[in-house]
Amino acid sequence: MRLVLLGPPGAGKGTQAAKLVEEYKIVHISTGDIFRKNIKEQTELGKQVKDYLDKGLLVPDELTVDLVWDRLDQDDCKNGFLLDGFPRTIEQANKLQKGLEERNIKLDKVINIAVDKEILVKRLAGRRVCTNCGATYHIDSKPTKVEGICDLCNSNSVIQREDDKEETVLNRIEVYENQTAPLIGYYEDLNLLFNVDGTLPVDEVFEIIKNHLDNM
Ligand code: AP5
Ligand code: ZN
Repeated sequence: MRLVLLGPPGAGKGTQAAKLVEEYKIVHISTGDIFRKNIKEQTELGKQVKDYLDKGLLVPDELTVDLVWDRLDQDDCKNGFLLDGFPRTIEQANKLQKGLEERNIKLDKVINIAVDKEILVKRLAGRRVCTNCGATYHIDSKPTKVEGICDLCNSNSVIQREDDKEETVLNRIEVYENQTAPLIGYYEDLNLLFNVDGTLPVDEVFEIIKNHLDNM
């Protein structure tokens, strides 16, 4: 299975990605996670991208596309992959399509998780993440946690992401609307799009997606 997850910041891409890669035994590729790992480890790439993430701006395509292809060309992606947070611009989508054609492979589905802006702001401002294992929490919806010890890995690493402060959240949503939302039409034209209501409970969103993929 080769999948792309589309949706605004806070739509629940990371939440659904964790469940989908487990269900279909495919590789999870999150460009946001890759950038955050590099920032944490203070690599050369991390230093180059930190300012963009902190401000909620997109990292330039030239730092993003090659990195994704390096990952997609590894052996473990042969059985399938899920792209989460990529592509995010028409340019990235064109480069993804071109690379897929060169390798003679096709995407099976692009899943668009739709959620209104007011809900996104609440979700992101209340989100807490484990910087050790990537687990996601929320201050007042399940699984709840404010900060501190992670239930999954026991590390004292649950924090608020730097770009989840309210001002940056609004900026990220605007960047999404201007640069990423046009991808919905792009993939609709390619007959690959499946829309799901991301305001439903997590397990229901997952069941709807799974049901669709299992009956394609
Ligand atoms: P990235 O890491 O991709 O962040 P994002 O797209 O902003 O998405 P988020 O991780 O914020 O949200 P999500 O949709 O995964 O939601 P989640 O499941 O956590 O990108 C970060 C930055 O990296 C970008 O700003 C950019 O700088 C850079 N970048 C990354 N990729 C790039 C690219 N391709 N090109 C250029 N730059 C790039 O859920 C959110 C909250 O809601 C959680 O608290 C969760 O518990 C809760 N929740 C989830 N689902 C539900 C539900 N159904 N009901 C109730 N609550 C829910
Ligand atoms: Zn953890």
